[in-house]
Amino acid sequence: MVKINYKGKVAVITGAGQGIGREYALALGLRGAKVVVNDLGVSKDGYGADISSANKVVEEIVENGGEAIASHDSVSTMDGGENIINRAVDTYGKIDILINNAGILRDKSFMKMTEQDWDQVMNVHLKGAFCVTQPAVKVMKKNNFGRIIFTGSISGLYGSFGQTNYGAAKMGLVGIMNSLKLEVAKYNIKINTIAPLAWSRMTAGVFPPGFETKMAPRFNSPLVLYLCAEENQVSGNIFVAGAGWYGRTAIVSGDGCCLKNGSKALTIEDIRNNFEGISDMTNPKRHESGLNIFEYMEPLL
Ligand code: NAI
Repeated sequence: MVKINYKGKVAVITGAGQGIGREYALALGLRGAKVVVNDLGVSKDGYGADISSANKVVEEIVENGGEAIASHDSVSTMDGGENIINRAVDTYGKIDILINNAGILRDKSFMKMTEQDWDQVMNVHLKGAFCVTQPAVKVMKKNNFGRIIFTGSISGLYGSFGQTNYGAAKMGLVGIMNSLKLEVAKYNIKINTIAPLAWSRMTAGVFPPGFETKMAPRFNSPLVLYLCAEENQVSGNIFVAGAGWYGRTAIVSGDGCCLKNGSKALTIEDIRNNFEGISDMTNPKRHESGLNIFEYMEPLL
């Protein structure tokens, strides 16, 4: 069987100086992509700046026989986002693949969360994805090709103590994906969200000993690279990956209940009496667009 390769493709990976992003960059470099390794080089909680991590990954890709350049801009401003994409376009003429991966943590319980903790996390994860993806999509549209990844988290999908800011930002990315996939579908741009799980400096203090190898970040790369391949036609999906396990998760709805009976007003008690049916999830359905929800109401419209 022919191996998937990325020859002729230009990939930008944000936050690729270490951890999970570094593995994407190395893997794409090995499979023939021209890679822009972006990393501001901040601490786990977003302080400082250091160009050495991105530079080191570029050196590794080149040593392996690949092509790569570094970018040290922050994802969290419009100027930064444009500079990152321009770096790809000015050097390699285009961008085909964008992996939004840069991230920081400012974990605090909700009652102790400061405005700064909230804003910084939003700026990097949520605003950062907007700042980098918008200029990328402009180029992808012209070339009628694009593969984009947003990096979500199980914290947003399912919850995690002390991560209300992070979880909200991560779920916000699913919100961007759900609408943007519709806007760019006709330009052959596919967007998916990955919720990775891996040992990195972000999780080093949380995972038990031994997880450094069991949950190595390289286990996330095969799925993400597959989603970035030209042959992938899936868009708007969410995947969870870690330790060599890969699965899909989705926002679904149950059948619900049509309670309205003519013009008779419904009461709170009508809801109480039907709460089991309203909450029932035995027939979960995923929707390509928010408009699909109207199907449930059809008998009433
Ligand atoms: P990491 O801390 O090893 O790498 C994140 C990289 O992003 C760092 O090199 C950092 O310098 C860079 N970065 C931070 N702010 C930046 C900015 N404004 N501009 C450019 N670069 C910036 O973390 P890890 O674990 O590799 O995480 C990668 C992504 O995966 C993050 O988005 C994270 O939230 C997400 N994630 C990771 C999980 C895990 O188990 N490690 C779990 C769920 C999500």
